[in-house]
Amino acid sequence: MYIFTTTSISIMKKIVVLTGAGISAESGIKTFRDADGLWEGHDVMEVASPQGFTNNPELVLDFYNQRRKQLLQVLPNKAHLALAKLDTYFDTTIITQNVDDLHERANSKNIMHLHGELLKAKSTKGDIDKSITDCENDIFMGDLCPNGHQLRPHIVWFGEEVPMLEKAIEITEKADILIIIGTSMQVYPAASLVNFVKPNTPIYFIDPKPSVSKNSFNNLTIISKTAVNGVPGIIDDLIKTYKN
Ligand code: APR
Repeated sequence: MYIFTTTSISIMKKIVVLTGAGISAESGIKTFRDADGLWEGHDVMEVASPQGFTNNPELVLDFYNQRRKQLLQVLPNKAHLALAKLDTYFDTTIITQNVDDLHERANSKNIMHLHGELLKAKSTKGDIDKSITDCENDIFMGDLCPNGHQLRPHIVWFGEEVPMLEKAIEITEKADILIIIGTSMQVYPAASLVNFVKPNTPIYFIDPKPSVSKNSFNNLTIISKTAVNGVPGIIDDLIKTYKN
């Protein structure tokens, strides 16, 4: 992206931000892998896999209905808001594993949801991608798409294809700076994106329990803080360093 002024043309640096559940923790949304290994009391595979849906669709729909209600009651936190400031100074893309809409509500412009969106529904059959619609309400068994098939949440479950992956790789390959926030880096292919940056690209990893160590990547800075405590400072530093 180019900015034109009367006297100069400057090229914005490209920042890619990979976010995980940790960035939304301080907004009140629980992470997936809490100490008890359960997600809001459930085995992740029970509520986040096609097999889980086949076994007990009512439970799975009810689970996401509750997550959707919870989402509508929480707000973006200072980490989401700080990231939105990047758009003024950098060509920024947020690649999020989160299904919440807190980056949108914080006003970030370019957001890619790798694992779907809680506030969208889709069909269980037919041309599923074309069936995606906004959904702020509960989904029940018997709620059908216009072609007569059961609706389900627009969530990428374990074992399902990650449709945005190729695009996410392309964007990550072009990054001048990569920022990773609040992810255990346990879930692939999302966790593999870090391997696609150019050699020596600065990487900032912000997480109170970082799953990487200093030598994991070249040019890595680990900030062992929560998102709210760690993200605003690093964003202000980057803006100060690169804004001219
Ligand atoms: N600020 C920043 N990071 C935090 C905070 C916080 N306040 N609290 C917890 N964390 C960190 C944890 O230390 C952990 O590294 O957030 C991370 C959360 O990890 P996971 O629960 O595994 O979430 P995530 O990495 O986003 O999971 C990836 O797994 O279940 C699937 O599809 C789902 O997108 C999800 C994917």
